[in-house]
Amino acid sequence: MMRLDRFLCEMQIGTRSQVKVYIRQGLVFVNDVLVKDPDTKIHEFSDKVTFRRQVLQYSRFVYYMLNKPVGVVSATADNKAPTVVSLLGGDWRDDVFPVGRLDKDVTGLVLLTNDGELAHRLLSPKNHVDKVYQVEMASCLSAEDIRILEQGVDIGDERLTLPARVELLGERSMLLTIHEGRFHQVKRMLHAVGNEVVSLRRVCFGGVSLDGELGPGEYRRLRPEEVERLRGQKEEAPM
Ligand code: URA
Repeated sequence: MMRLDRFLCEMQIGTRSQVKVYIRQGLVFVNDVLVKDPDTKIHEFSDKVTFRRQVLQYSRFVYYMLNKPVGVVSATADNKAPTVVSLLGGDWRDDVFPVGRLDKDVTGLVLLTNDGELAHRLLSPKNHVDKVYQVEMASCLSAEDIRILEQGVDIGDERLTLPARVELLGERSMLLTIHEGRFHQVKRMLHAVGNEVVSLRRVCFGGVSLDGELGPGEYRRLRPEEVERLRGQKEEAPM
């Protein structure tokens, strides 16, 4: 059971105050009965709720992409800094969490969901899900640096990094595609070839690209085809 105004918020009909106005304006019916009290309790899966005559189908899971700004922590709660979840602001889903982490000084694409199974699959080291980072570097990469980064580099862990892909964008700028999510991985990879990250931005995760329309701190729901792309990330044979 949940409150009608919460249901409408979760269905992205509007903010909490907007949906209360819509309910009082008589735009919402529950099981074909006009309901004007936002506090009405409904069965989200079995009651028929309509808004402006459109039936609203409740979905158990939600999926968002967020353009994370610098200074925001990839967590659900933090007592000092804003979190990626706090940026979802008006939304009432309290079970949403970020799929993996970006460092506080790293920007770009963060996926958020309450679908634990999908998140687990995307993060499982077995699955080698692609992550693409735009990297601004302190110095130029030599052909040898690129070869090392692409073949696998010793970053002080038990194993070398998996093969990566380098696409130069400029003298000190590249797109780097990696298939793991080790702690500070890109920074450590650059450090291992005697370079340093000046700025780092994730632009793609699991085949889903950051929407160029989203300014820093902005978010939107994933489109059904984007969710399908994430679901289609298959387990691969170990490399
Ligand atoms: N690599 C890093 O060094 N930091 C991140 O946040 C992500 C990838």
